[in-house]
Amino acid sequence: MPKKTTVRDYIRTIVDFPHEGIMFRDVTTLFADARGFRMAIDQMLHPYAGMRIDKVVGLEARGFILGGAIAHQLSVGFVPIRKKGKLPGAVISEHYTLEYGEAVVEIHDDAIQPGEKILVVDDLLATGGTAAAGIKLVERLGGEIVSCAFVIDLPDLGGRRVLEKLGMDVHALCEFE
Ligand code: PRP
Ligand code: ADE
Repeated sequence: MPKKTTVRDYIRTIVDFPHEGIMFRDVTTLFADARGFRMAIDQMLHPYAGMRIDKVVGLEARGFILGGAIAHQLSVGFVPIRKKGKLPGAVISEHYTLEYGEAVVEIHDDAIQPGEKILVVDDLLATGGTAAAGIKLVERLGGEIVSCAFVIDLPDLGGRRVLEKLGMDVHALCEFE
């Protein structure tokens, strides 16, 4: 393997996971490398220098790892959006469809105050279904989304267009076909 110079170089592809025909873009190899992980967090934060962000919202599961590091760096709070049935308090829910299945995501109904400026974070944007459901949850609580930040965009699956139609600013560090 040649020397890794970009965030993209640290991402591994697993063929036929979790189903035949899916090229799974695995960021655990990025997270496991100190230089790669720091590079990813620094680059994800770069567009927001000087902007007001009150909270980071992370999408389960890999959005928790990225979002936690970003929230720490910004000295702001972190709010998880979880799959159905995982959060202990009162929640609001949204249904969505995935590249390979269907799911429901939830947020605690007191996790965001109206008018708070929110950065939404996940590892990967595919169809945009997960992020769109997360955006709806944040907006139902009155949060104002500053931007949505991803490590990976899969442009063939159209997620960026879906989020831009919702009026979102979208940033991703790299693309895979
Ligand atoms: C992956 C990824 C995103 C989502 C993107 O999560 O981490 O959250 O899919 O796909 P979409 O843009 O088509 O919605 P996954 O659903 O595999 O869940 P996990 O992180 O809990 O494993
Ligand atoms: N989520 C949806 N599609 C994915 C893919 N190809 N790789 C990793 N996570 C995904």
